[in-house]
Amino acid sequence: MRADGAGEVVSHDLPVPHPPPGRSAADDLVARRGLPSPGVLEELRVAQADHGVVTGADVRGAAQAAGLPAAAVHGSVTYYSDLRGQLGARHVRVCAGTACFVASGGGRHLPQVQRALGVRAGECSADGSVSLQEVHCLGYCYAGPAALDGELPRAGADLADQLVGQAAVRAPDVPTWTSARTVVLRGILHGEPPWSVWPRVLDNGGAERVRREVAESGLRGRGGAGYPAVRKWAAVAAAGGGGPRYIVANADEGDPGSYVDRLLMERDPARVLEGLALAGLASGATQGFVYVRSEYPRAYHRLREAVAAARASGHLGHNVHSSTVDFDVDVVRGAGSYVAGEETSLLRSMTGLRGTVRPRPPYPSEHGLLGRPTAVNNVETLAAVPAIVAQGGAGYAHLGRPPESGTLVVCLNERFTRPGAYEVELGVPLSHIVHRLGGGLAGGRRLVALQVGGPLGGFLGPEQLDLPLLNSALEGAGVALGHGSLVAVDHRVSGPDLLRHLWRFAAQESCGACTPCREGTRLGAADPDGAGTDAGLLNLMAVASLCPFGRGIPRAIRSLRRVFGMGTE
Ligand SMILES: Cc1cc2nc3c(=O)[nH]c(=O)nc-3n(C[C@H](O)[C@H](O)[C@H](O)COP(=O)(O)O)c2cc1C
Ligand code: SF4
Ligand code: FES
Repeated sequence: MRADGAGEVVSHDLPVPHPPPGRSAADDLVARRGLPSPGVLEELRVAQADHGVVTGADVRGAAQAAGLPAAAVHGSVTYYSDLRGQLGARHVRVCAGTACFVASGGGRHLPQVQRALGVRAGECSADGSVSLQEVHCLGYCYAGPAALDGELPRAGADLADQLVGQAAVRAPDVPTWTSARTVVLRGILHGEPPWSVWPRVLDNGGAERVRREVAESGLRGRGGAGYPAVRKWAAVAAAGGGGPRYIVANADEGDPGSYVDRLLMERDPARVLEGLALAGLASGATQGFVYVRSEYPRAYHRLREAVAAARASGHLGHNVHSSTVDFDVDVVRGAGSYVAGEETSLLRSMTGLRGTVRPRPPYPSEHGLLGRPTAVNNVETLAAVPAIVAQGGAGYAHLGRPPESGTLVVCLNERFTRPGAYEVELGVPLSHIVHRLGGGLAGGRRLVALQVGGPLGGFLGPEQLDLPLLNSALEGAGVALGHGSLVAVDHRVSGPDLLRHLWRFAAQESCGACTPCREGTRLGAADPDGAGTDAGLLNLMAVASLCPFGRGIPRAIRSLRRVFGMGTE
């Protein structure tokens, strides 16, 4: 296909393919043409920064450069929240995620910020001086409510005053603690230098050594699905056909309440890259990518600096450290979408298309980026790999409670006495984390619910804290551990308000690819106490939705209603 000067698709120069279910002709077109540089989303972002809004001419220009139909690029502009609106000279992103919602007693900071800046969320002031965008988490959940003023973080109860110069600006670093044998936070807490394992592995053992140690460790993905890391890499390495294989670090960290990936990327980016290189070696990949959410600008810059430093030191490139291995990394940015963290959506988003989910199989390990075998791993999963390879997998396997072995960095929100990121062994009781590590709730507040695992995870009551931090046990209690966020909800937030908040999030972030979730979340948001809590609707969403987003929201809604005593279904 080609686009004419006016951006209309006028002819088909190529045979029209019949894409497999769930894949569009645009996916196949991208697979044939490769990734444009800069990416489509990056080009649109630059245009928007230049003149405030993405115009039809910008869409046509980006489409032409990428060899895509203008309609496909237009679809991206309407899909990603960053690209939809008009930017003012000053652009403020204010967090409407759950931790910030709870921190301000039910989202009270949003009207305060709107009043202070004189502009409504989603709008730009008439004189173009300031625009305000609602986002779902900036990774400051331990100090919220939070905002980004341009790329400068601001956080605290006086957020609105900070934004208009009536209070000192603040954005504290992530408080970090450890209570287990440190694995993931080793560099941050103990100053262990990165890139010490990679040259030794290239010299001795190679891919086989990485696969052996990680298999012995029992490491499972920390992004939510808990799939054994080594199985995914072995599948990519074994996938048929010549041509490149890819590995992608999923740094989309969408769950409001989670900030461990941000912590790792900002404070120890080289270790994330070293883990990516080791996992890439184990997968037979020659090119790695990190897909970073746009709400993490500092992490994006730190990673790019770390890539440049690694190239200069000979850790990345051709024949790395005089071996036969080629491996390089690119860092790409998202544009504001929760579902873009789902792996098929993420890979599509990397090509500049709408981040809609496609059915699996085929899995990315078989048919991923540009149609090639691709491993997608969470940042925390990758950050554990250098230590596991260096120390041997057996030691890691003794941590936690096999088959759920190892550690997890749990993130505690601002309501705790000692909020922050704690690396703990899997299997510790939640009560230990909440009371001993977090110190309970600050300022005499009463815990009424604990949200586990983000918006798709669910809510527990205070009487359920004897449960261990294990996927299996939490699933038995009707919630999911997810990426390990723990958001304490105190008595100032009402059940109905939280229910409305959750449905609103679901409706705003549903990717729209399947009817049960697209329509179900809209019904829920429109009438959270009625249709949205109807057992029939929740059952339909839970069984018929295409991906864990639509299937997980009903679990979260049911657990919320249970904990707040909001009637039975
Ligand atoms: C709606 C949705 C959002 C997701 N968001 C993320 C995310 O932000 N970060 C992440 O690592 N995984 C996320 N996942 C899980 C990924 O699809 C994938 O399982 C994960 O990146 C694999 O890495 P792991 O095996 O190391 O966990 C999400 C899944 C769904 C269904
Ligand atoms: S369940 Fe929701 S997020 Fe997942 S594919 Fe369907 S519409 Fe998209
Ligand atoms: S910064 Fe607001 S929920 Fe994370």
